[in-house]
Amino acid sequence: MYQTILTTLENGIFTITIHRPDKLNALNAAVMRELGETVNEIYTNALIRSAIITGSGAKAFVAGADISEFKDLNREEGMAMAKKGQDIFSLIEDSPKPIIAAVNGFALGGGCELAMACHFRLASENARFGQPEVNLGLVPGYGGTQRLTRLIGKGRAIELLISGNMIDAQTAFQYGLVNAVTRAEELLPKSIAILQLINTKAPLAVAGCIRCANLAVDEPGDAGFEEELKTFGDCFVTDDMKEGVAAFLEKRNPAFRGK
Ligand code: COA
Repeated sequence: MYQTILTTLENGIFTITIHRPDKLNALNAAVMRELGETVNEIYTNALIRSAIITGSGAKAFVAGADISEFKDLNREEGMAMAKKGQDIFSLIEDSPKPIIAAVNGFALGGGCELAMACHFRLASENARFGQPEVNLGLVPGYGGTQRLTRLIGKGRAIELLISGNMIDAQTAFQYGLVNAVTRAEELLPKSIAILQLINTKAPLAVAGCIRCANLAVDEPGDAGFEEELKTFGDCFVTDDMKEGVAAFLEKRNPAFRGK
């Protein structure tokens, strides 16, 4: 169905594999268009409970935006390109269904930005992260200056942004950029295992946690606390909250239905 992306849907877990291995899965216009379509699928397909984004081959998650498409752009076209990328990555971040990045190699530029837009990240031991745009006379354009700073703090973020240096998976783990580092062959099984666990939880509560946590970093101040109050209250009128509490009291596993 897609030319540059492979997808599978098994037991509610939708796996999106960026598939341009000969170009280290660089994000050209076709990939971005199709990535946008797959993200829409996550929102609209009721069979999808959660998703994994990964890269094809053993070498790269995504080695960045496709540099060959930068050559002839003017200012407005540059901005339009960044806007499209920012919009898709914001949809990933705001998805009510969990989306995790399984980073299986280079995650550079737009690849690091894509991983950071996901709700959290697992990395294989050979993963490398960086924002090398300064080497091209550019700044990141798909949210990298903002999400990197939010995730690892200003000092480390600025060092990475202005040096263009890459960091390895262990350093990314120390920085809090990734949640865990695994052997390459365990990356997808571990990603699937953690989503299988999350898929047993109440979907509306999972979505509420994501929404409130996003507000904590997007809008410093009281917005997140207010949303938490409202979401907490809203949970009391869901079937799932009644089921979760009843199941606990009856000493059985809950069967959540997302209602
Ligand atoms: N855009 C377009 N093509 C890319 C690319 C990108 N971001 N990253 C890699 N490629 C292509 C290479 O041009 C090469 O294509 P070719 O075989 O047709 O010449 C192919 O992918 C393999 O990459 P190569 O550079 O030969 O692999 P390597 O192992 O020597 O180096 C990297 C790997 C990741 C260090 C190197 O490819 C690189 O620096 N890529 C660009 C990273 C970047 O600046 N990203 C931010 C963009 S805003």
